[in-house]
Amino acid sequence: MFLVENVRKVYRIKERGSWFSRQWKEVEAVSGLSFAMQPGSIVGLLGVNGAGKTTTIKMCCTLLEPTSGSITVDGYDAVRCDRQVKALVNMIAGGERMLYWRLTGRENLQYFGSLYGLSGSRLAERVDTLLDLVELRETAMSA
Ligand SMILES: Nc1ncnc2c1ncn2[C@@H]1O[C@H](COP(=O)(O)OP(=O)(O)O)[C@@H](O)[C@H]1O
Ligand SMILES: [Mg+2]
Repeated sequence: MFLVENVRKVYRIKERGSWFSRQWKEVEAVSGLSFAMQPGSIVGLLGVNGAGKTTTIKMCCTLLEPTSGSITVDGYDAVRCDRQVKALVNMIAGGERMLYWRLTGRENLQYFGSLYGLSGSRLAERVDTLLDLVELRETAMSA
């Protein structure tokens, strides 16, 4: 289960100042967000551009640390236990290249499966199961 409790994220960005002064600007991307995601549920995070969706998802995946508040995944704190959380979550960002385009679909699955410690027949079975699930077993070798 994902538990997001009173999470706040402030980006601190350097602004162009004069040559003797360094100016910082703070952008509050997420302000006091709390929610829980139950195992097996499908959840949509909706909001206008700049609402903080990407920032929230990156914090849930340990790619960013919250400024304050806490995120736990199956009881593991996303900051203190980021290795355990990384093993539990995955992320595919829409509109960005998250796959290796020189590899076929099957090869991509084999590669990412091996990063999660799968190998041999367990890996092969898992790849086939996923390709069958999305009905892409026939095309996975060529694309
Ligand atoms: N790396 C960054 N540095 C500074 N400000 C950022 C950064 N990423 C996002 N922001 C700002 O944080 C706010 C939330 O952005 P974002 O999480 O990308 O929202 P969404 O995905 O909902 O469009 C916006 O004001 C955006 O300009
Ligand atoms: Mg976004």
